[in-house]
Amino acid sequence: MTVIKKVSFVLATIVVIGCGQKIIKPKAVFSQKDILETRVDSILKLMTLEEKIGQLNQYNGFWEITGPTPKEGQAAKKYADLKNGLVGSMLNVKGVKDVRALQKIAVEETRLGIPLIFGFDVIHGFKTISPIPLAEAASWDLAEIKKSAAIAAEEAASVGLNWTFAPMVDISRDARWGRVMEGAGEDPYLGSQIAIARVQGFQGDDLTARNTILACAKHFAAYGFSESGRDYNTVDVGESTLQNVIFPPFKAAVDAGVRTFMNSFNELNGIPATGNKYLQRDILKDDWKFDGFVVSDWGSINEMIAHGYAKDSKQAAEIAINAGSDMDMESSAYVEYLSALVKEGKVKESTIDDAARRILRVKFELGLFDNPYLYCDENYEKETVGKAAFQEGVLEMAKKSIVLLKNEKELLPLKKSGQKIVVIGALANDKTSPLGSWRIAADDNSAVSLLEGLQNYKGNQLTYVKGADLTEGRTQFIWETKINTTDKSGFAEAMAAAKTADVVIMSLGEHGLQSGEGRSRTDIGLPGVQQELLEEVYKVNPNIVLVLNNGRPLAIPWADAHIPAIVEAWQLGTQSGNAIAQVLYGDYNPSGKLPMTFPRNVGQVPIYYNYKNTGRPVMNEPESVFWSHYIDEKNTPLYPFGYGLSYTQFEYSNMELSQKYFSDDGSIEVSVNVKNTGKYTGKEVVQLYIRDLFASITRPVLELKGFEMIELQPNQTKKVSFIINKKTIEFFTANSKWEAESGDFKVFLGGSSAKTLEADFQYKNN
Ligand code: BGC
Repeated sequence: MTVIKKVSFVLATIVVIGCGQKIIKPKAVFSQKDILETRVDSILKLMTLEEKIGQLNQYNGFWEITGPTPKEGQAAKKYADLKNGLVGSMLNVKGVKDVRALQKIAVEETRLGIPLIFGFDVIHGFKTISPIPLAEAASWDLAEIKKSAAIAAEEAASVGLNWTFAPMVDISRDARWGRVMEGAGEDPYLGSQIAIARVQGFQGDDLTARNTILACAKHFAAYGFSESGRDYNTVDVGESTLQNVIFPPFKAAVDAGVRTFMNSFNELNGIPATGNKYLQRDILKDDWKFDGFVVSDWGSINEMIAHGYAKDSKQAAEIAINAGSDMDMESSAYVEYLSALVKEGKVKESTIDDAARRILRVKFELGLFDNPYLYCDENYEKETVGKAAFQEGVLEMAKKSIVLLKNEKELLPLKKSGQKIVVIGALANDKTSPLGSWRIAADDNSAVSLLEGLQNYKGNQLTYVKGADLTEGRTQFIWETKINTTDKSGFAEAMAAAKTADVVIMSLGEHGLQSGEGRSRTDIGLPGVQQELLEEVYKVNPNIVLVLNNGRPLAIPWADAHIPAIVEAWQLGTQSGNAIAQVLYGDYNPSGKLPMTFPRNVGQVPIYYNYKNTGRPVMNEPESVFWSHYIDEKNTPLYPFGYGLSYTQFEYSNMELSQKYFSDDGSIEVSVNVKNTGKYTGKEVVQLYIRDLFASITRPVLELKGFEMIELQPNQTKKVSFIINKKTIEFFTANSKWEAESGDFKVFLGGSSAKTLEADFQYKNN
């Protein structure tokens, strides 16, 4: 027996003794995995059915832990459950003091002393907020995205948390859906790469390290395809879209070792995801061999009643557990009914065992059995939360997330001195909105505003005028946000100031709470009176730099037609204002590329680059109306997927293929020269797309299959190469499996999905 194995053996022994029961010794020389499984089994054997069910129960923080213990109502019942070992996890409890107090109850007062896992929505940062995930995706910088998740993990872990409900890896093509801000956009390939980066960032290499936390791939599945972009709405999609578009980032997360999944609120083809056996058992656990656990979404087990899929909470519990939903978030259905359901023979005890085993396994992996207070160190908490290195990290991420959409008249970068700059827009002076809607642990007013960021540059004369508010009414996380401010009384002052300016910076877009969960919109233009404000100011001074802050693609055709410079600055988190100012002044040359298509008009939505060709893609006779189009708008988007400018320019040339065809395990190397023809050093994301010209299931007109970010000095040229092989062209075929089909293909290279260079190749499956 090696030393390591002996140590693990001893650990197994300690744990079982820790539970005060008999020792089950591993019989022979085991792998680490075997030892872990033995430890899990040894605990399971000690547990009553109720205690096992308790592990499947997750409660939201239900009382002020430093206050009196609850004596009546729901909270008293939950408190009793906690003491009786009927709670496996809690969410929304944070801070070492509170986490320790609750963990102490679980470990010292319950019969078996099984520790709790503490979950929280650390979606893009905990207290130090990084850009919204859609913005991070715009960086296409996987290393930076991974680092950003690692920062969030470290800060969250320092306050006692060990589980985040992120990354959301839902693909979405519908900008009306408020939660597009929480994902990586519309593309399965980019989405998969980002899913991997974020899982690795949160979980690190070692889940027992005190700066890592469990990740959770959510929402399984198809939540991003809700009809008409309305949150929680019905989803009806076929198997090809599920497999080829929706599943890939989830599968990538599994392959990257994600330890938990969350199911979703929507129904999928008539069956709520929470009660969906095909998704949770057939695909996730059987096909993909996922051995972590699945948590329901908030109350989604009971929501199956409203869906019309379960007659009551008891039946909902039966459906959910049998379908593979392991942990019940806040429905209380499992803790109430599973025991009776087992006794009635409606749920097998082995099903409960499987769910409990998955949860215990993950608790072992977190190191909680060896040290339940691993995440509970006040000193570490104090020195970690908000630390300077995090600020630097989120600033770096924020700069890389910005996308330059338009830059005429060389308005940008701004000159550093001698300029009169007038800043207009409520968002410019807003220190909360840049935090977005998923920032439940961050303090209000803790972001650097755009105005503050600009004030760091002292060489110009800077004037601020609000012009107009964005919203009326409450702007809190759970309340409706009124968006239709009608008050234009500030316009005159804004116009008077703009008249005298060399450059006007207009900071317009959505309030941080106008996107996110429950915040779908039917009009994706600039909310309130901002469009009018923009047009009025333009009349007196067209030298406008429009800085957009928003959580979704916006339809801004007028701005695109008139405003010379447009910068997409999303909601960039704590360091937002510094990041935008550094980009506007050219201290960072923008390098972001859109992860989601920007429509001309909301009527084009869902709009995405990897659409199908249809049988009538073009007008076949002049003036003919019988082709796939609109009579009042173009088919093309305002800004395509993958698009984004730099202060410098790049030229693509010399596309070369090492050969024109490959078979079986062969490959083709495709390369291109990229030259910086402008006057600034800059970064470019070189993108590789393919098109499969005919197949057993029709294929999209374009599919992203690779990308590489390069940096070039003025006049410098770099050759960038990609490999095309079987993996590149595989898809879920008419044979219902992932495979490569023989045929003819096109390959494209360029700086966006509005491809630049193209060539043909063939694949022959021998
Ligand atoms: C959201 C989840 C989130 C959960 C817990 C739900 O409303 O859909 O994404 O993780 O709440 O806060």
